[in-house]
Order: sequence, then structure tokens, then C-alpha cells
Amino acid sequence: MAKPINEHTHKVKTVIVPAAGLGTRFLPATKTVPKELLPVVDTPGIELIAEEAAALGASRLAVITSQRKKGVLGYFAADRQLEENLESKGKTTLLDKVRHAQHLIEPVEVIQDEPLGLGHAVGLAEQCLDDDEDAVAVMLPDDLVLPAGVMEKMAAVRNRLGGSVLCAFDVPRDEVSNYGVFDIADSDTGDPAVKKISGMVEKPAAEDAPSTFVAAGRYLLDRQIFTALKQITPGKGGELQLTDAIELLIEQGHPVHIVIHDGRRHDLGNPGGFIRACVDFALAHPAYAKGLRRYLTQRLKQDD
Ligand code: G1P
Repeated sequence: MAKPINEHTHKVKTVIVPAAGLGTRFLPATKTVPKELLPVVDTPGIELIAEEAAALGASRLAVITSQRKKGVLGYFAADRQLEENLESKGKTTLLDKVRHAQHLIEPVEVIQDEPLGLGHAVGLAEQCLDDDEDAVAVMLPDDLVLPAGVMEKMAAVRNRLGGSVLCAFDVPRDEVSNYGVFDIADSDTGDPAVKKISGMVEKPAAEDAPSTFVAAGRYLLDRQIFTALKQITPGKGGELQLTDAIELLIEQGHPVHIVIHDGRRHDLGNPGGFIRACVDFALAHPAYAKGLRRYLTQRLKQDD
């Protein structure tokens, strides 16, 4: 499935998906079901990420996982018995759905033995890269960024301005301490939605945050990130932070820009965000939209 890098529209071959977390915010469900497999209507979050990666033109999904979450990779394997069963019953629509993930992208498993942080998880994926890859994408599966297409915009910015490009959201100041926060440089990029950044800090207190623009789970990183990841020391929470490696690149003169996304973002890692994502997807689903809209309208009236 791997194509030469020059045949990739956006020159990104590998998308790194950190998925080794314990999913504590989603217990008890995540005791046995990895949170990346919980269905947004009928499609697991990991398949939504694989679709986004394939749409970018990537051919490899480096899934950072742990021994107890083997099911995440298992989801991409063919299930012959199930497929034969559906085929014999003529259930072709279901068969196509079941086969969809395994034809999207080549998943590669990378085991993270210890939870040493996002920076550590991303660093482990270096072993998956070919020599001709000078950039990688990172997509955090907790973050569902809608509408699709932000990575393509980020790739266009990298083609124009070089360096690394991150997706940003503007959030209320009292929420910034949940995120990596950008320090915006005063420079004209020719596009108001694209800003150069002069620094990045992981989960600062609201009063110390350099802005209200935060990292939202989509990164297009120059390969130099792997050198920076080897140089950083444990940061916020005693973990190796991707934010700190990006900050180090900036200090070394590497250009980093953000694309401010004017859309929605759902946090699939907690039930509140997950429910909203399900509602959004169901309201756009031909089989469920009408009934759900009717139900929600009536149900909300009862709460008044
Ligand atoms: C991670 C990153 C943080 C980023 C966030 C986006 O934090 O460390 O910089 O803003 O993802 O969701 P986490 O949510 O894993 O604690």
C-alpha cells in the first residue's frame, strides 16, 4: 500500500495515532473496550481517524498502543467468518462497512510499555518511518475536528511557509489549562487564519497563558521533531510532553505556524464530548436524523 512520497498529494506518508492511554475518564466501559473503539453512532473513533489520515493521502497509520489494548489494531484485521456470513446472506451494505477499515490504510502497531507521556509516544513512531519522509502527522484520536479537511490546510501552509504546522482553536480563558497554549508572534503570514508562533506551553494556569489559542490534536511536524523529543526532559505532570519538543524546535529557530480552525471539536475521550459527537453524527445520518431530531425537540420541551 505504501506509495513513493512524491506520489502523495501532501507528502505525508505516516500518521501517528497515540492510543495507549487507559481511558480513565471513560471507565468502567474502558475496562475492556479501548476508548478508540467506542462507536460514534456505528463507527469507532479509530476508523474516523483512519479515514481522515487516508483523505490526507497517508498510507500508514502508526498506532501507539499498549499490550492491554490489542483490540485497536485488531479492528483493522479481516474477519473472514463474519464476511462469509454476510456475503452468504447477501448483506452487501454491511459487508462493505465491515471491510471499509481494512482497505483504508496500513496500520502498524507500536507498543508503548509505560505511560511516559505524549512526547514519548510520538517518539516511538520514528522506527516506522522511511528515509524519504521529512514530515509526519500526529492525530490525537480523542479530538474529533469538524468539518474534515484541516490537515490538508495545514499541509498547504507547510508547503508555503515550511517548518511545522499545528491546528489551533480559540477557547475561553478559563479552559486553557487543559491544553497546550500558543504564544503568537506578531508577523503577517498573508492569511488571518495562519499565525506564526513564538512559543508553546503545556497546560499553563489561566493567568499565565500567553493566549487563548490552544492545540487541538492535529499536528504536522517536521521530522526534526524526533531529535527534539530525544532532548527534552519530563515536563508537566512528570511526562515527556510533545509541547516541550515543539517549544524546543522554536527556540532553535524552526518555523512553527498554526492554522486557526473555525469549526467544531469534540473530545471523544470523555462521555460529555462523546455524546455531543454522537448527536452531531446522528443528526447527519440518513437512518437516524429524522427520528432523533423529533425526539430531541420533544424531549427538550419537557425540561422547560
Ligand atoms: C494533549 C496535549 C495538549 C493538547 C491536547 C489536545 O493533552 O498534550 O497540548 O492541547 O492534547 O487535546 P491531553 O488532552 O492528552 O492531556
